[in-house]
Amino acid sequence: MATTNSLRALLLLSLFLLNTFQSESAVASIDLGSEWLKVAVVNLKPGQPPISIAINEMSKRKTPSLISFHADSRLIGEESSNLLARYPNKVFSHLPSLLAKPYSFTRDFLSKLYLSHEIAPEDKREVAVFKAEAGEFGNFTAEEMVGMILKYAVGLAETHAKTSLKDVVITVPPFTGVAERRGLLTAADLAGLNVLALVNEHSGAALQYGIDKDFSNGSRHVVFYDMGASSTYAALVYFSAYRAKEFGKTVSVNQFQVKDVKWDAEIGGQNMELKLVEYFADEFNKQLGNGVDIRNSPKAMAKLKKQVKRTKEILSANMMAPISVESLYDDRDFRYLGKSSCSLKEVIKHSGLNTDDLYAVELIGGATRVPKLQAKLQEFLGRKELDKHLDADEATVLGASLHAANLSDGIKLNRKLGMIDGSTYGFVFELDGVGLLKDENTRQLIVPRMKKLPSKMFRSVVHNKDFEVSLSYESQDLIPPGASSLVFAQYDISGLTDTSEKYSSRNLSSPIKANLHFSLSRSGIFSLDRAEAVIEITEWVEVPRKNLTVDNSTSASGSANNTDADARDAPEENNDKLETSNGSGNLPDSSANESNTVELGTEKKLKKRTFRVALKVIEKTTGPGMPISKESFAEAKRKLEALDKKDAERRRTAELKNNLEGYIYSTKDKLGSEEFEKVSSEQQRQSFMEKLNEVEDWLYTDGEDASATEFQERLDMLKAIGDPIFFRYEELTARPAASEHARKYLTELQQVIREAEKLKNWLSDKEAEQKKTSGFSKPAFTSTEVYGKVLDLQDKVASVNRIPKPKPKVEKSDKVETESVGNKDDSTSGETSSKDQTTSNSDNVADEKANAESQGHDELPLEIFNEISGNTNLNRLLISGDCVSNAVSGVLDALMQRVLSLFYDARKKKCMKLIC
Ligand SMILES: *[C@@H]1O[C@H](CO)[C@@H](O)[C@H](O)[C@H]1NC(C)=O
Ligand SMILES: *[C@@H]1O[C@H](CO)[C@@H](O)[C@H](O)[C@H]1NC(C)=O
Ligand SMILES: *[C@@H]1O[C@H](CO)[C@@H](O)[C@H](O)[C@H]1NC(C)=O
Ligand SMILES: *[C@@H]1O[C@H](CO)[C@@H](O)[C@H](O)[C@H]1NC(C)=O
Ligand SMILES: *[C@@H]1O[C@H](CO)[C@@H](O)[C@H](O)[C@H]1NC(C)=O
Ligand SMILES: *[C@@H]1O[C@H](CO)[C@@H](O)[C@H](O)[C@H]1NC(C)=O
Ligand SMILES: *[C@@H]1O[C@H](CO)[C@@H](O)[C@H](O)[C@H]1NC(C)=O
Repeated sequence: MATTNSLRALLLLSLFLLNTFQSESAVASIDLGSEWLKVAVVNLKPGQPPISIAINEMSKRKTPSLISFHADSRLIGEESSNLLARYPNKVFSHLPSLLAKPYSFTRDFLSKLYLSHEIAPEDKREVAVFKAEAGEFGNFTAEEMVGMILKYAVGLAETHAKTSLKDVVITVPPFTGVAERRGLLTAADLAGLNVLALVNEHSGAALQYGIDKDFSNGSRHVVFYDMGASSTYAALVYFSAYRAKEFGKTVSVNQFQVKDVKWDAEIGGQNMELKLVEYFADEFNKQLGNGVDIRNSPKAMAKLKKQVKRTKEILSANMMAPISVESLYDDRDFRYLGKSSCSLKEVIKHSGLNTDDLYAVELIGGATRVPKLQAKLQEFLGRKELDKHLDADEATVLGASLHAANLSDGIKLNRKLGMIDGSTYGFVFELDGVGLLKDENTRQLIVPRMKKLPSKMFRSVVHNKDFEVSLSYESQDLIPPGASSLVFAQYDISGLTDTSEKYSSRNLSSPIKANLHFSLSRSGIFSLDRAEAVIEITEWVEVPRKNLTVDNSTSASGSANNTDADARDAPEENNDKLETSNGSGNLPDSSANESNTVELGTEKKLKKRTFRVALKVIEKTTGPGMPISKESFAEAKRKLEALDKKDAERRRTAELKNNLEGYIYSTKDKLGSEEFEKVSSEQQRQSFMEKLNEVEDWLYTDGEDASATEFQERLDMLKAIGDPIFFRYEELTARPAASEHARKYLTELQQVIREAEKLKNWLSDKEAEQKKTSGFSKPAFTSTEVYGKVLDLQDKVASVNRIPKPKPKVEKSDKVETESVGNKDDSTSGETSSKDQTTSNSDNVADEKANAESQGHDELPLEIFNEISGNTNLNRLLISGDCVSNAVSGVLDALMQRVLSLFYDARKKKCMKLIC
């Protein structure tokens, strides 16, 4: 069963972690999906699980990736989802998919999902700006919003790890382009995070798959097939082991290499939802007639979407149900599911492998639970069983956290698993400039697809004037969704014209060239890092005659900016074959080799000298991929910090208000009890009660929107009256306990004193006896006896001193759990059971039963689900035509209400098995 598998994996992982520096290092990984975000933490604090999922304030293992601005508040995650139906245009979703995308893409994307946000094109970058009700802050870019979500996510990690934390790995879908990856890094930067790396989702899953396995007895190909909310991909990964020497011993090291990945960035579980929405919308319009189109009402559409989504989730909890949802469509509607196996077909076809060569096809991503999809995949693969060893929801984020641990300084992975991921896109560089001949040297494929991450590479161009470099995707057929151009980065290279002029009078031994140094980062970002001019000169120079023994230098000393060894660049190339474009390789300087004369004085020598002059590289990318200027960044950062401050203030106010409320309730409760009559007079109680009532009234009238200070002041005032009474109340039981403790101690002490008396008497007796005994006979007593007796006594003394102080009676804390602020009528309050669920609930997927428990929107327990489905025969309801339109107008609504009320009632009674 998957649950035990993954549990075992977690347990094993605990053993794989070693902390070399006893620091409190913690790192996190964030799986930032288009619908959900998940956070995992690697934490080496004693007493905490080393790798675990950070739960949110509702004790959920995944959080909706939503952010909204409403009534002067910013709400992120669960708090936002409550607003969704009523204020659809205030709740922003899918933001990670909108990073660095052209305005038109964002506009079309939103309208396809019936999202009615107000957006406007931004002048400089041609991206969309989202208008939000956030007071003076008003407009946000996708980077800013994603930054806020990331900050929230890392906050979950910090709360979970109980330590501050900055180092993260963030997952990205494989089709994320360079501009999009850079946009995500900007967002993380705004959130103040240190991104150790972005990691492709499939690599995260592969890591999680491989970490507890040994491939020394056999390598294997595994396909990871992920259908999430809005995209699908298939990745072919090769797991193997190689032998390596370690401390003189030959060991076997496991590793995996991503061989290929293919995707469809537009097909996912969401399509199914959208189909349902369209279906219901049509039905609704039909019922209403008069040419009314529900699609024109954002609110109605939002409601419909929410209900379809929830219904789908609840229904998916029942094995039968998805089939009934599916049967709403004829087969034509399932074309997208058929299409969704395209990526799988492609990846297998491209690899030249046979489906039989695959060791496993692992399903991840929520949508892979759809039975119809599984059937399609089975059919294609000709297998009876698909592999579901991984937790469909959490494999990626858990694997990514291992990657984070591996990259961090403070944590060492005891278990090694090499990871070789490759660039999901191929990259080309192109040169442009005066006098540059357009040939195969000025436009080259420099990063083929699946080239290892990270890598460095460089190219030389024979040229002596300033020029431009642009980086683009290899082919129009394979670009990130929405990209309007192949080009994603442009640079101006300057300084070459000047440098060439400066050296033009010298005796050049080869034409001037420019070396371009590129890097493909661990995060999959391809960029031009630096450029330099290379000038080779052969000249007669006057040199002092040197003794052979002294001559260590290999090159003439030029200007400070010259470096003397071409060989320096060689290691950068990382196993890549050097392919300098003009054929002139990197020959090390050989000028010094002739200086082996012994006489002193000076001589003329023909010297070959190489000058390297750094060229100025200025990025001038335009469009959505354009980097944010320093000023805009600082501005955005200020904006986010101000919002954080406001949020913190809001939370503090809510907390203080809750504290005050809680104090009033619990105190009023206690004042009525008999015990309190013993410690307070009738009049004291009465006047206290009056004060409490007075503040309570204030709370619900003028105090409704009071400030933190006002709440605090009132609480302090009440406590000033209450504390002496509570003190007396506590003393009522504490005092007798203390006296009893003292008596017990004294009794035992007296016992010991009696023992001491006994010893004293024994000693006097024995000494007297010894005096009478001759020194030649057996002694009356021995030193050992004395020490033994003293030791006995010491033990008794010690045991008296060890009598424990009675434990104080455990009082229920006055502090009430902070309610989630946001919506009163949606009643999000509830005790957060923050007990760690990592081990007990580490896996909530894969087999059907686990599905049932985790898929229901709010982790509905089965009993409740059964009750509902029994009451309102859902399957029939959905299939029958009449009911379908009813569904829109009310049945589903009522159903949802019922589900929610059951859920929340149950919560209040704290009787929910899954939560309590
Ligand atoms: C938001 O942008 C619009 C133009 O797109 C502008 O008119 C408005 O003043 C901006 N609001 C804020 C608060 O910056
Ligand atoms: C690998 O195979 C050898 C012999 O076939 C066996 O002794 C060893 O236990 C196997 N190792 C693993 C990890 O399965
Ligand atoms: C961990 O780090 C080592 C050394 O840098 C590297 O070889 C390996 O591929 C890394 N593995 C993972 C899973 O990040
Ligand atoms: C220029 O270099 C060539 C060798 O490349 C050399 O033969 C010649 O003497 C040099 N001329 C001067 C003026 O240094
Ligand atoms: C060079 O070497 C000779 C002997 O081999 C020695 O006498 C002389 O001092 C050396 N000169 C220098 C400058 O080191
Ligand atoms: C020359 O090299 C030798 C060893 O190779 C070293 O001991 C000596 O310090 C070097 N001298 C200079 C001037 O660099
Ligand atoms: C060396 O480079 C720096 C800037 O990188 C420049 O200011 C300086 O003038 C250069 N020196 C020479 C001798 O070219």
